[in-house]
Amino acid sequence: LEEKATVLVGAGLTSISQAVTDNGTLGVTNNIIPGCTGTTRGVERLGVPAVVFSDGPAGLRISPTREGDENTYYCTHFPIGTLLASTWNQELVEEVGRSIGNEVHEYGVDLLLAPALNLHRNPLCGRNFEYYSEDPLVAGKTAAAFVRGVQSNGVGTSVKHFAVNSQETNRKGDDARLSQRALREIYLKGFETVIKEAHPRTVMSSYNLINGTYASQSSELLTTILRDEWGFDGMVMTDWNSGDDAAAQMAAGNDLLMPGRDDQYNRIVEAVQSGLLDEVVLDRNLKHILEMVVRTPRFNGYEFSNKPDLKAHAAVTRQSATEGMVLLKNDASALPFAGDVKSVALLGNTSYDFIAGGTGSGNVNHAYVVSLLEGLQNAGYAIDDKLKSDYDAHIAAEKGKIKHLEGFAFASMLAQPALPEMPLPYSRLSSLAETNDVALITIGRNSGEFADRVSSDFYLSDGEKKLLQDTCSAFHDLGKKVIVVLNIGGAIETASWKDLPDAILLAWQGGQEGGNSVTDVLRGAVSPSGKLPMTFPNDLLDHASSKNFPLEVGSDPAFLMGAKERLDRKDIDYTCYEEDIYVGYRYFDSFGVDVSYPFGYGLSYTAFEYSNPSISDSGDSFTISVDVQNVGSVPGKEVVQLYVAAPDSKAMNKPEKELRAYSKTSELAPGESQTIIFSVKASDLASFDESSSAWVTDGGSYDFLIASSSRDVKAALSADVPSWSQGVNNVLAPKTEINKLRR
Ligand code: GLC
Repeated sequence: LEEKATVLVGAGLTSISQAVTDNGTLGVTNNIIPGCTGTTRGVERLGVPAVVFSDGPAGLRISPTREGDENTYYCTHFPIGTLLASTWNQELVEEVGRSIGNEVHEYGVDLLLAPALNLHRNPLCGRNFEYYSEDPLVAGKTAAAFVRGVQSNGVGTSVKHFAVNSQETNRKGDDARLSQRALREIYLKGFETVIKEAHPRTVMSSYNLINGTYASQSSELLTTILRDEWGFDGMVMTDWNSGDDAAAQMAAGNDLLMPGRDDQYNRIVEAVQSGLLDEVVLDRNLKHILEMVVRTPRFNGYEFSNKPDLKAHAAVTRQSATEGMVLLKNDASALPFAGDVKSVALLGNTSYDFIAGGTGSGNVNHAYVVSLLEGLQNAGYAIDDKLKSDYDAHIAAEKGKIKHLEGFAFASMLAQPALPEMPLPYSRLSSLAETNDVALITIGRNSGEFADRVSSDFYLSDGEKKLLQDTCSAFHDLGKKVIVVLNIGGAIETASWKDLPDAILLAWQGGQEGGNSVTDVLRGAVSPSGKLPMTFPNDLLDHASSKNFPLEVGSDPAFLMGAKERLDRKDIDYTCYEEDIYVGYRYFDSFGVDVSYPFGYGLSYTAFEYSNPSISDSGDSFTISVDVQNVGSVPGKEVVQLYVAAPDSKAMNKPEKELRAYSKTSELAPGESQTIIFSVKASDLASFDESSSAWVTDGGSYDFLIASSSRDVKAALSADVPSWSQGVNNVLAPKTEINKLRR
């Protein structure tokens, strides 16, 4: 029994202090691979090795240096998850996964703790940068591509955080209370897709409760849905130190408890000895663990090189980042820079202090970050030296004022609010307008694990607004253009100021080559082809979820990691998902709410025309086809989106339309066209009917909308769809009445 319990509990952490120095995260250990996130425990007698797990979604994180070892172990910092989703390009995401998986393999790690695909329920969730989208199809398909890429190296992945981990505030104690329909259609659907399509080796259960039960202690979630319904045959691990009862986690089917503590080991042994827990449960969980172990490179004696091809991967991250950037505005073709643009008035703190990614476990110990300044200089643009040195001094001074939160063990990893912008007198801006060909202002935001953003973070500060207003009037007075670059990890307010600049490029956080990637787009080396995987609303409070989200808590120490006691505080100890299925565009389109930039939106330097839309059906499956032609003057890629509107959706309390398929063209030369073909089955159009606990597609005439964004339909086709249904287990029902939003 003791040997079994040894393998069911991770090897524990040996260096919490390292978590702080490595600017890494919560869980860091020196077992086997220095700076990895955690390891299992082996059984020498049986030849079962301990195996190595490490984060994260934007690249592998291990210690970059080792005592007495002159070699370095840097990993490539790839773009954040949200940027990868913004490419809408599954082949590209698979290529990024393949590169990250190569570093996992060659640095001797067995499994990557990624991808993270929780839904963007509200813009303020601190970890949205690691996640993909407000839409479960984009989330699931992006995660599946990532898993295929990483696992093609023979290493494992862990899709996380399963499930409904939609806020960081009191993440270990918050009870997500939601309907079975919202659960199935919105919060579980992405996980169902990645598990059925890409077969991740493991799943990481989430910290939070779902309708009153810890996810890591819910057999309805981890056994009935995950295994019995979806056929998952891998291993389930906990998030680090989740839940409150190791025996309940064992019984629920949470096979491995990470990072592993002695009290969990003791609880399991005592529970079996007292008869509370049947040893056969341990055997079942052990089987899943051992099946994972025997597939690892370590078990198979792989001689890792410690020499992954970092140079090649730097090129992959530079290219992939350009494809996830979203051109939001481009009046009078302000972008790409005209040939006569030689000098750039570079403004905004993060033009110089560029943000490569978010903080916490999603961070990467990168060897360098190419700032936008360096990217522009690398491309030969002249940047005002005096301005640069003034920004460097300002940034250093403002960083010197930051008071790290005391008392929170990992305070160094908390994302910091945006630094105050350096005030620039109008006279200075006027002279900059005289001496520079164009102005470029970067607006930066950072966020990360452990804390949600606060509502003020969503809006531009007064300093940012003044800088933007003054720069625009100074440069526009001389007929010169102003470009805004958004170096952010999550949606911000844009409606109130987007009319001021000539162009807006959403650069997200593009990894270590970020400055080069942004410059590649600015100078037209590549045409932007990213699309928004979430809505940019006119206002934060326009989101239906904002009524039930902790908008002001931020990094309050009382709620970091999880409140010590449950006091039944709204949005902290429990969160009611009253918006139900109406998340993101499902809400905005169904309730006719105006938005600043819609889901699926993104401009290009070229233009595309859609023609010959057609639909044909064979019984319960439909083939939709459309031709897309590049009718502009430069090469580019287009993301073709297929939304489907159910008949009488309002009466049936269904979203006005839902994304059911999408596909990105290859790069089309001017004049070139490509035929895009979608196949959709009746079962793909199902909604979850709680009364019968079944997925149901109502028969009738459906509209198939071919679009280049959720609000730009190029062609509408209709077809009669036969009814279809499939029953599933009636589980995870809410224990309290939820006042669900209805159309
Ligand atoms: C963290 C995160 C999880 C990460 C794990 C190990 O708390 O929630 O995403 O993989 O612990 O760092």
